[in-house]
Amino acid sequence: MQQDSEGPTKLEALLEIIQKDVKALKAGDHAARTRLVDRSAQLQRAVESPAERTFKMRFAAGFSRGFYFDSNFSFSPRIFVFLQQFAIRILIENGAFATLCAKGDPKITAEELSQATGGDKLLIERLMRLLAAVGVIDEVAENTYKPNAITHFMNQPGFIGAEKHHFELHTSVGVRMVEYMRTGAGVEQFNDEPGKQAPWEYSHNGKSFWKILEEDPECKQDFDLYMAARRQGDLVPEWFQLYPVGQELVPTTSNLRSLKTGKDDVLLVDVAGGRGHDVGNFRAHFPQLPGRCILQDLPETIAQVRKTPPQGVELMEYDFFTPQPVKGSRIYFFRNIAHDWSDLRCSEIFSHTIAAMDKDYSRILFEDFVLPSTGATYRSASMDVHMLFSLAGIERTESHWRQLLRGLGLEIVRIWSDGIAEHEAVIEARKV
Ligand SMILES: C[S@@+](CC[C@H](N)C(=O)[O-])C[C@H]1O[C@@H](n2cnc3c(N)ncnc32)[C@H](O)[C@@H]1O
Repeated sequence: MQQDSEGPTKLEALLEIIQKDVKALKAGDHAARTRLVDRSAQLQRAVESPAERTFKMRFAAGFSRGFYFDSNFSFSPRIFVFLQQFAIRILIENGAFATLCAKGDPKITAEELSQATGGDKLLIERLMRLLAAVGVIDEVAENTYKPNAITHFMNQPGFIGAEKHHFELHTSVGVRMVEYMRTGAGVEQFNDEPGKQAPWEYSHNGKSFWKILEEDPECKQDFDLYMAARRQGDLVPEWFQLYPVGQELVPTTSNLRSLKTGKDDVLLVDVAGGRGHDVGNFRAHFPQLPGRCILQDLPETIAQVRKTPPQGVELMEYDFFTPQPVKGSRIYFFRNIAHDWSDLRCSEIFSHTIAAMDKDYSRILFEDFVLPSTGATYRSASMDVHMLFSLAGIERTESHWRQLLRGLGLEIVRIWSDGIAEHEAVIEARKV
């Protein structure tokens, strides 16, 4: 797990201080209780990876005034969580965040940041003070800062994209939620019925999530970079670490499976695969497997990677509400597509690919959460609620998945999971 290199030493030091405070509390020192609240938050931060921390911050703040996810987000009162996202967003926009990370000398003063970015020095000091208090940067002296592991993690293009995406597009859903509910609509979870609006459309003047991205190239690029970065930082394993490619696809004398080897035969189609990160990583890990690998997505997504496609991957513009042009691929892979859509829309989308499958050869793989019947983790439960408010989508329980796929004439072969509840699973299905 990617962590601050000073992590273990920091942990030991903190534990020592915590033990002293516990003793002090026992001896009647009431101020020790407040110190313990603060120290235990610091302890959590010292154990979390930058990816876990960034995820929690982004999702806890995601809907601003409207909603606060009930998380183990303990280092600052939840009601103020969105303020640190305001601070981060401003410092991204005025370039201070990038300057802080880019500077050769790891220390930089507010004065220097102000000169480098043209931002107001006092404003920078105030915002940096908050970010230091929540551990996003280190404050090493008065108005002097140093980036830490979280700062560097957040400064990657995919996570800058994520900050911008959540801040610009999701905040307004929460802000307008009560107004929306008072129109008498209750909360529409899905977008299936004509004339009814889910919260996202209400707060975006009737425009769907995808329409907004289609019309705004900067938003589209931020979102696609964000999607492409989500496996960085150990939060999410590669899909082929969950689905045992060696056992299922590589022929051995004991499994006797074989892959078609004709020049037109297709090994894998990553349907709506964004910038092709998943199919590209798969090809790079398994260059010996025969067959074509194809990335499909909307024209505006494909356009972004036209000049630098992932190696060994063919690009194809495709709208998944239309017939699937690639027939008989060994694998059709859908990551985080089902969770974007209601059952009705999933049925429309997947039926096109199911019609293209070879009953005896093709498999369809869905990578998404399979929610447990009780005790869902913070990540999976918050992703479900996030889907509700952003895309009128849903994360599904196993029985929900079975019902959906059965209705489409699919049978689940196996749900591949690494047993870590925070991770998504790969659901493998075949045509019956
Ligand atoms: C949640 S992202 C997932 C991307 C990728 N599978 C991943 O997990 O990183 C959803 C993807 O669906 C694509 N998409 C949305 N509507 C589509 C449509 N009608 N046809 C094809 N792709 C679509 C988007 O462009 C985006 O790349």
